[in-house]
Amino acid sequence: MEVVICKDYDEMSRRAAYLLTAEIVQNPKAVLGLATGDTPKKMYETLVDIYKKGDLDFSKVTTFNLDEYVGLSAEHEQSYAAYMKQMLMSHINIKPENVHILNGCSETPEEECALFEEKIVQAGGIDIQVLGLGHNGHIGFNEPDSQFELKTRIVQLDDRTIEANKRFFDKKSDVPTHALSMGIQTIMEAKKIILIASGASKAEAVSKLVNGNIDSMHPASILKVHKDVTVLIDKEAASKL
Ligand code: GLP
Repeated sequence: MEVVICKDYDEMSRRAAYLLTAEIVQNPKAVLGLATGDTPKKMYETLVDIYKKGDLDFSKVTTFNLDEYVGLSAEHEQSYAAYMKQMLMSHINIKPENVHILNGCSETPEEECALFEEKIVQAGGIDIQVLGLGHNGHIGFNEPDSQFELKTRIVQLDDRTIEANKRFFDKKSDVPTHALSMGIQTIMEAKKIILIASGASKAEAVSKLVNGNIDSMHPASILKVHKDVTVLIDKEAASKL
């Protein structure tokens, strides 16, 4: 695991965008695993800027998103489908059929998750997966005590996650209690992984990731055994290392 401490959020975002850019330039048919949340916003803005300058082509790129809230349709403004459209997809020349985001309103969520896994396999696997980091060490929506060998499935959200994400909703009770999420095994099968974390509130989770043992109570800790992980953090997130 390579840990890169960046001067600030902007530098962290630029570096993450450059790693994705390099991947797409080397392999125009790259399969990207993408994350949502506040942390990757500037990374997406940077990617869109690079695209608008004419230096990136998404026409053969395929994407798979980590997760989606159960019960929110793609039209709901807090759905991750809406987030991806707003932050990236509506600005670039990606083919809509190459964008894969779990349907949180599926009436058959298990089938939805199994089909998602099949599509990842058909695409040749994820070349590079972007991850954020939950305050409780979650990756995707794999909460503490998730088994490491699970694939995409329906999960119940931890109260700490609901608390952290209530800022996007009118009130806490509006935050969905469940989500569909890639499993830790799905994430670990990606050929490369970039984890990004910014700000003092992530310092504890970053410290457990970098200095702690592998522990299912801190799901991100399993990344230590992946052969190609880059952890990009700003100074605040690195403050407890
Ligand atoms: C959310 C998402 C994760 C994200 C994490 C951190 O709950 N499911 O994919 O990485 O929490 O979010 P943020 O970047 O807003 O701190």
